[in-house]
Amino acid sequence: MNGPVSAFAPGKLILFGEHAVVHGQPAIAAAVDLGTQVQIEALDGPSRILEAELEDPRLWPALSALLPPQGLGLRIRSSLPTGRGMGSSAALSIALVRALARWEGREAGIEEQLRLGFVLERSFHGNPSGLDHTVSALGGALHYRRGPAGIAHEPQRLAPLQLVVLDTGRAGDTAALVAGVSARRPAVDPTLAAIGALVERMRPALECGEQDRIGAGMAENQALLRALGVSSPEIEDLVSWAGRQGALGAKLAGAGGGGVVIALAPDPSALLDAARREGRAAIPVTLGQDPQAAQE
Ligand code: PMV
Repeated sequence: MNGPVSAFAPGKLILFGEHAVVHGQPAIAAAVDLGTQVQIEALDGPSRILEAELEDPRLWPALSALLPPQGLGLRIRSSLPTGRGMGSSAALSIALVRALARWEGREAGIEEQLRLGFVLERSFHGNPSGLDHTVSALGGALHYRRGPAGIAHEPQRLAPLQLVVLDTGRAGDTAALVAGVSARRPAVDPTLAAIGALVERMRPALECGEQDRIGAGMAENQALLRALGVSSPEIEDLVSWAGRQGALGAKLAGAGGGGVVIALAPDPSALLDAARREGRAAIPVTLGQDPQAAQE
């Protein structure tokens, strides 16, 4: 009998373009160093989850699609908050694909990770853009678009970017929020197109690390997401709070309706200290590693 094998995959933050990316507009996202680990071990009887911190009724129906009916036990451990827009389901999906390949004595290829990761993500989210699991599989920062001609992605050059991630403490329902935006088309199409145009304008600013422009872009993206109806009072509270603390910009990251807010501040450690003093959940995240290095 094989000994246990395990694999890790990272979560992500969407810097610009969530929701619009579901409808063919571009988005930019980057992998974070938090993520999910899946361990597989041999088991007598039907395959099942032996350990998982999260209670999610979608978990087993999604994962069992890839597992043999008998003989495997899964242990799932994650440093990502669940349902907060940090790609926890995508990290789980990619970690499982990687672990299953290791169980077979090989490494999963990128094509296999992207294909099977998408199967799992569809099971979790209904109509995902595919951005989350693609970033999780490739690492680094990506410019991503799912257009009529298929999926196109390329590494996004990113100067080191220090963000403060503020947690609303509430999970957003990605599938419901995505469906809500879809139901409001074509009325929201100009807003979706404006988000896409903003993503393109932000590319050089991200590459050169122009903090003021990136911050202003985050504020603009947040206003467009608010207009789409995916913000929430908790998100707005954190965005305004960050502004009062001198942040250059802040926006929700992910599906919204709760989840996390990312804030760009001239002095991230001062913003982090202020958040913690007030009992607000906050973590520092540094993005902008070399995408090649992140894939190794
Ligand atoms: O909240 P998350 O991590 O599932 O991110 C959702 C991002 C959306 O653009 C809203 C949906 C998608 O599939 O891209």
